[in-house]
Formats: sequence, structure tokens, C-alpha cells
Amino acid sequence: MNRIRAGLGAAAIAAITVLGAAALPNGAAVAGDTGLRSVARPTGVKIGTAVNMDALAADAPYQEAVGREFNTVTPENVMKWEVVEPTQGNYNWTQADQLVDFARAHGQAVRGHVLVWHSQLPSWINETAFTPAQLRDLLRQHIFAEMGHFRGRIWAWDVVNEAFNEDGTLRDTIWLRALGPGYIADAFRWAHQADPSAILFLNDYNVEGINAKSTAEYNLVRDLRRQGVPIQAFGIQGHLGIQYGLPGDVLQNLRRFDALGVKTAFTEVDVRMILPDDNIKTQAQAEGFGLMLRACLLVRHCISYTVWGFTDKYSWVPGVFSGQGAATPMDENLQPKPAYETLKQTFQLAG
Ligand code: G3I
Repeated sequence: MNRIRAGLGAAAIAAITVLGAAALPNGAAVAGDTGLRSVARPTGVKIGTAVNMDALAADAPYQEAVGREFNTVTPENVMKWEVVEPTQGNYNWTQADQLVDFARAHGQAVRGHVLVWHSQLPSWINETAFTPAQLRDLLRQHIFAEMGHFRGRIWAWDVVNEAFNEDGTLRDTIWLRALGPGYIADAFRWAHQADPSAILFLNDYNVEGINAKSTAEYNLVRDLRRQGVPIQAFGIQGHLGIQYGLPGDVLQNLRRFDALGVKTAFTEVDVRMILPDDNIKTQAQAEGFGLMLRACLLVRHCISYTVWGFTDKYSWVPGVFSGQGAATPMDENLQPKPAYETLKQTFQLAG
């Protein structure tokens, strides 16, 4: 089955790849269309990774693998508010610009991450220093400043991230308290004004299968679209742990968004385990990576599948979940694991 679905057509992708190959600014080896991106390309689903910018600058094999394997990239941290505006009015786009330049040179689309979130805010944003009306202005300015800086160069933005509790109620955040529940619709309206060409995502974790949280988000997306709010896509982060079992209804979940005409994507996939790893855990992990990709390939409007780091060398998991890790498709030496082979074979079957 050869289906170029959402996004760029084959000719456009080929043209970008050629342009990218000609325009490498840093003298790095030209990234040909090899690795996972070569098997993903015929399916029309992009394959991506979160990028650790310190590693990209310092680790040549890491940099080479980012260019070789992926046709979309997401900054793991450097587009977050605390990084881009550490003190009020003083912007720092350095590492974010570097990623956008790297992506252009390698024919990669950029997923912007993230505009409205309760976490990784700069310390100057707080409810003591500002009134609710001022916080509203600051959020609006933030969206316009960041999207404006990158206007036309970001394929898709995570506009609102992790806005829900597990029971489907809205998370109690600075934004909910200051702006009320309408902050989500406002954020999407501002984002669309700031860069009309970007695909705008609501994004969250623990929404792989059908549950109270994913249903609440489904209802919100449906209702906002009925109201004409420019929200085009739902991002499923895909942080799984094999010790919890794998969700069984991922495909059904994607299908209901598909039926609304809403784009979907897996945006932060990793599958962690309790260490040490062994062959059975590693196989279970491969199944987790595979089941999410398969679901993506089985619906019409799933546009990309991004891993939250491709090597255990830089994964966020061990730092947050003590005693857990080995969550990515490549080990600390950038050697492929069964999960990598599963991704490759799954794309090959679909392409
Ligand atoms: O900013 C300091 C830096 O100055 C210092 O050198 C460094 C030394 O450890 O720490 C730096 O900040 C860390 C930052 O990553 C950059 O490395 C923070 O302490 C650390 O908390 C932060 O973790 C990130 C986390 O988001 C924060 O919530 C992870 O790398 C990143 O993978 C993770 O990504 C999130 C997504 O954005 C949203 N979904 C969940 C996902 C996993 O938590």
C-alpha cells in the first residue's frame, strides 16, 4: 500500500530532501534518505524524535543519527517558555534556531513544543507578580512572540499541553485560574493568528487508549471545532511502561478522532521498563512501539510518530522514574534494539 496521505506530497518531500542535502551549514555529512525515514516516506507518516540540543552539538554519532533516521524533529526543551524568555522581555532563541536550521538542512519538518503548559515556566511568571488580566496578556504575547519568531518554519505546534486530569476534569493550572476554561480556545485562536500555516495540536499523556481523559479531550476537540476554533490535531504522547501492560484500544481511540476529521500524531513515544532489561522486557517494549505505529498507519489522518529520544544515552526516564529506563529504540551506544526493527518492519509493511 503506497499512500501519501496528509501533509506534503512525494514530489515536495523529494524536493526538500534535495534542497536539504545542498544546504548543510555545519559541514556535517549529508543526510541521505536512509534509516527509518526512508521506510516511513512511502507511507506519508513522518517519523520523528525529540532532540537534546546539548547532545546535538557535542555528540557527532548522535547528530548523524538524527539526520539519518528522522524526517521530523521536536526540541526536547529549548522552545519551552523558561528557555526562550528566562527574564521578562529578554528572549533567547539560540538553541531553538539551531534546531530549526539543522532541520532545514536535513529536510526535516519541525514540531514546535510547547506554547501553553503549566511546567517549565520561567520563575518570573507567577500569580503574585501579575493580575489575571496581566497573565492573559502575557500568555497572548508569548504565543505571538514565539510563533512569530519561527513563523512559516514550524510544521506543527503543541499549542496546549497536558491540560487535563486523569478523571477528565481540567487541570488546576496558573492558566485555568487566571483565564478560566476559555484559555484553551483563546490559545488556539491566538496561535492561528500568529502562524496560520502551522498545524495546531492539543497534546497529552495517558490518552493512548479510550479512558476518561482521552474522552474529555475528544469532547473538547469536537466542541471547539463546532465553534470554529482553529484546532486541527490531537497529540498522543505515548509514554508507556511495560509493567502496566499495553493499552488495547489505541486504534479505536485514533479512529474516533479520525471520524471527526481531526489529525492525530504520536508525539513523545517511549516504552520504559523496570531495570535491568532482559529479552522478554525488550520484546514487550518492541510490541509497545509497534502497536502505536500500527494504529497510526491504520487510520487516515495520523500524520507523524515521534519518539521522545531515540537513544537511552540521553533519555529523560531514569532521572524521573527511579529504577526504570531503557525506554528508547536504541541503546546507549546507539545500537538498534528490537523496537527499532519493529518500527522499520511496520513501516515497510505499510509502505
Ligand atoms: O535548565 C537546567 C540546566 O540549566 C541545567 O544545566 C540542567 C542540569 O541537569 O538542568 C536543566 O533543566 C532540566 C531540563 O530538562 C533540561 O535538561 C530540568 O531540570 C529537567 O527537569 C528538564 O526535564 C525535562 C522535562 O520535560 C521537564 O518537565 C525533560 O528533559 C524532558 O524530556 C521532559 O519532556 C516532557 C515534555 O516536554 C512534555 N511531556 C512529558 C515529557 C517527559 O516528562
